[in-house]
Amino acid sequence: MRLARSVMVIFYLIITAAALPPKNNGTTSSTRRHVHDPRHQHRLGGEPDSARSQVVGNVTGHTQIFCHNETQPPIYFTSQPDNGGPGVYILNADPVPHGAVNGTMFLFYENDHDFVPYLWTVVYPPGGAVFVTPCPTFEGRIVRGDVSNFEGRIVRGDVSNFDGRKHLLGTWAELSWSTNGTAWGDVSLLEGNDGPVLVQALDAANKYKGFSIDVLSNAPAGAWAQKLGTGSWCLDKITSEGGNSVTRAWETQFLDPNSVYLEDNINPVINSINGRFAVTFYAGVV
Ligand SMILES: *[C@@H]1O[C@H](CO)[C@@H](O)[C@H](O)[C@H]1NC(C)=O
Ligand SMILES: *[C@@H]1O[C@H](CO)[C@@H](O)[C@H](O)[C@H]1NC(C)=O
Ligand SMILES: *[C@@H]1O[C@H](CO)[C@@H](O)[C@H](O)[C@H]1NC(C)=O
Ligand SMILES: *[C@@H]1O[C@H](CO)[C@@H](O)[C@H](O)[C@H]1NC(C)=O
Ligand SMILES: *[C@@H]1O[C@H](CO)[C@@H](O)[C@H](O)[C@H]1NC(C)=O
Repeated sequence: MRLARSVMVIFYLIITAAALPPKNNGTTSSTRRHVHDPRHQHRLGGEPDSARSQVVGNVTGHTQIFCHNETQPPIYFTSQPDNGGPGVYILNADPVPHGAVNGTMFLFYENDHDFVPYLWTVVYPPGGAVFVTPCPTFEGRIVRGDVSNFEGRIVRGDVSNFDGRKHLLGTWAELSWSTNGTAWGDVSLLEGNDGPVLVQALDAANKYKGFSIDVLSNAPAGAWAQKLGTGSWCLDKITSEGGNSVTRAWETQFLDPNSVYLEDNINPVINSINGRFAVTFYAGVV
């Protein structure tokens, strides 16, 4: 029931959502912590240091409690029962299967853990959905991924994203959960654009951010960049340091910085007070 309702809401949004033009300060030494982590803007007032039983990262003074140890392989999941608690629906509105799977692979990366994903799944096309509840302190992103070969089980080399390298290029659906149950979400093109994504809060306020239009197809030659591993082409990163100015100029013609991260100083972030989100991925590139 919930799923059906969510899917209906999403498809309503597919029809109605308008896509428009954003911001953030690149003070990170690398891409370790994305400066537009929603919790930089909506910082929890000091979490107790006592509950730190897991891996802890501490960049820019904010202490991140990681869900996953990067020495461990990524965790595969299938859709979990939705009991009304916190979590996220991933909806695949991309009609085309990608790679060796029927659908699209999606990965969860934690901030500062760019080398090894935390979770991964495959969502069937089109209109397939999975629900998952990440660990309660998750701060990171959901991105499209690539399975080159798949014959029933993943083996070494089948997945570009499992090669131990950073695969940053592409659209980021950024989500994080606070200890009081509120979650934060946004869509960022700062590290690239491999297709539209919409993030929708599933609380009463029903806010959404992101975009649903294709800005790849007619983009100028200078706006493109190639993904590591697959070699696929998508739009380049537009970070304040080292970003592609052709890409930035192109995207800002069509997209609104109040809907999607296009720059460092406008933070198009929404919250969901019940910790529930839906993220819709439209046709994209893996
Ligand atoms: C952005 O970062 C630069 C250093 O990279 C710093 O000098 C500047 O004050 C920062 N701006 C804001 C608004 O934080
Ligand atoms: C949860 O924490 C966030 C961040 O501090 C705060 O903005 C929000 O109001 C809190 N929500 C509730 C229900 O207390
Ligand atoms: C991560 O896992 C490795 C291998 O099991 C272990 O040696 C290491 O201590 C773990 N790191 C943390 C921070 O738990
Ligand atoms: C994280 O950094 C802050 C500020 O630098 C510091 O006060 C805090 O003790 C650090 N936390 C941990 C767990 O290292
Ligand atoms: C892909 O998955 C969809 C949805 O489950 C199904 O209808 C379709 O037949 C599948 N296609 C292939 C080639 O397996």
